[in-house]
Amino acid sequence: MPGTRGPVPVPVTTNGGDQDLTLQILHAVGQQPDIQTSDTFPNAPSTDIKAALDRLSSRSMIEYEQHTAEEIALTAEGRQIADEGSHEFKVWDAVRQQGRLSLKDPALASKSAKIGQGKAFALKWVKKDGENLVPIADAAEDSTRQVLIHVQQHKMFPDPKQLKDFQKRQLVATQKVITYSARKGPRWALEIPVEVTDLTAEMLADGSWKTANFKPYNFQALGEPQMAGSLHPLGKVREEFRKILFNMGFTEMPTGRFVDTGFWNFDALFVPQQHPARDLQDTFYVSDPPSAGPPGPDPVADAALTEMEASSFTVDPSKNTNNAASTPQPLNYEQYSANIKQVHQDGAFGSIGYRYPYADAETRRLVLRTHTTAVSAYCLHRLAANPRPCKYFSIDRVFRNESVDATHLAEFHQVEGVLADYDLTLGGLQAFMAKFFGAMGLTDLKFKPAYNPYTEPSMEIFAYHHGLKKLVEIGNSGMFRPEMLLAMGLPEGLRCYGFGLSLERPTMIKYGIKNIRELLGHKVDLGFIESNAAVRLDRE
Ligand code: PHE
Repeated sequence: MPGTRGPVPVPVTTNGGDQDLTLQILHAVGQQPDIQTSDTFPNAPSTDIKAALDRLSSRSMIEYEQHTAEEIALTAEGRQIADEGSHEFKVWDAVRQQGRLSLKDPALASKSAKIGQGKAFALKWVKKDGENLVPIADAAEDSTRQVLIHVQQHKMFPDPKQLKDFQKRQLVATQKVITYSARKGPRWALEIPVEVTDLTAEMLADGSWKTANFKPYNFQALGEPQMAGSLHPLGKVREEFRKILFNMGFTEMPTGRFVDTGFWNFDALFVPQQHPARDLQDTFYVSDPPSAGPPGPDPVADAALTEMEASSFTVDPSKNTNNAASTPQPLNYEQYSANIKQVHQDGAFGSIGYRYPYADAETRRLVLRTHTTAVSAYCLHRLAANPRPCKYFSIDRVFRNESVDATHLAEFHQVEGVLADYDLTLGGLQAFMAKFFGAMGLTDLKFKPAYNPYTEPSMEIFAYHHGLKKLVEIGNSGMFRPEMLLAMGLPEGLRCYGFGLSLERPTMIKYGIKNIRELLGHKVDLGFIESNAAVRLDRE
């Protein structure tokens, strides 16, 4: 009948069958206040007992507890000795029966007979007489066998000191045994009643619900595993970073464009056109189409950023207190491109430049962006329409043509931030980095001078890794160069910090992943994605 649970329709088997055992337990607890299953059902397998106990206790027909104990059991050799006598006894017995036994007799050839011989000598039961063994003792007490028989019966050692010796001789071993003690429960009966699991319209109509035996809810039962979607560990760590950065007043930059031009990825960042990073080794160039038009506005990105800024108190232009600059100026991309060309080729804005012939074609080449700093450059140039302090961040994918190994793929994610404000100093950048990494529990940062074409000074950031017990590089940072900022049309006093780090490294550390291919790409185990817990960057 649907909606009920009755006696399980398993045929009652005679010999220790599961169903049989269930009824036997009911009887046993009815006859005795407390039963030990190991005594009452010494031959039933422990799993069958447990299944029967669970079936009954879920119906409150019995109550039971589980006990684990250590028991001493005989090994195969121990059992043989308990049955047939010890090796030494067998040697003595054979010698006694024959009166004398040649040392070459096949009865003395086995390994156990050799052991027995030695022991029988030591016990002064037999001795050598020329090439023969002769008995000394008339009677021998086989104490090894007696001890083993005792252990077999009581599962305990009479003298605990002997235990070690017998274990060493591999005659006995300890094993874990699970036993249960059980007694009547509040609904004990000699028959398993039918239990109702669903309240139906019929039961309400005919009133049978009043007397029905409802199955109690089992609040301990684990539900069916749900085939739900799950977040990728990188996604979870990204959310943590976003939260930290939003809490610090940052606005998220639109990073939807994986393909960008050489202009935004390199030229705008004062990366010279002969820079090794632009070599085919590091940059993926797009072949179809190979290039785009001149730099210009990206309406999609602009709309996204405007929306983001509107929800942020700190950078919404309408909430800007710095009134002098609050009327937006139109952005002039031709002027900006010309400024960049000039600062590279001839020098400008107080810089002597690189002084090489700047190729416009190079600025239009399409690349898979090698860093999200391409997006930061776009957003900082946009800021020049209405220069004001701002904090922007992005977390998205970048691509580098690197050889793939355990910790490198040809693509990864960058966490990047830029902060613009008047009269910023390097000490402020260090203090900011300490605050940012401090939010993830990383303290005692160390800074090392580094080089980026677009920042001066530049610093690599290190933190002590307690697991690896050494300083590990956790990020790259610097103050954007005037060649970059002044060419955009930003005012002299407005300085800008930038920093970047990979999302993969902290994720691998947090989830204890050694090989990046287990985290990203076609070799990722979906079970790993589904079973991993959420992450808190500031907790161990
Ligand atoms: N673009 C740098 C990188 O690829 C990170 C960075 C961003 C450094 C901004 C300084 C300023 O590692």
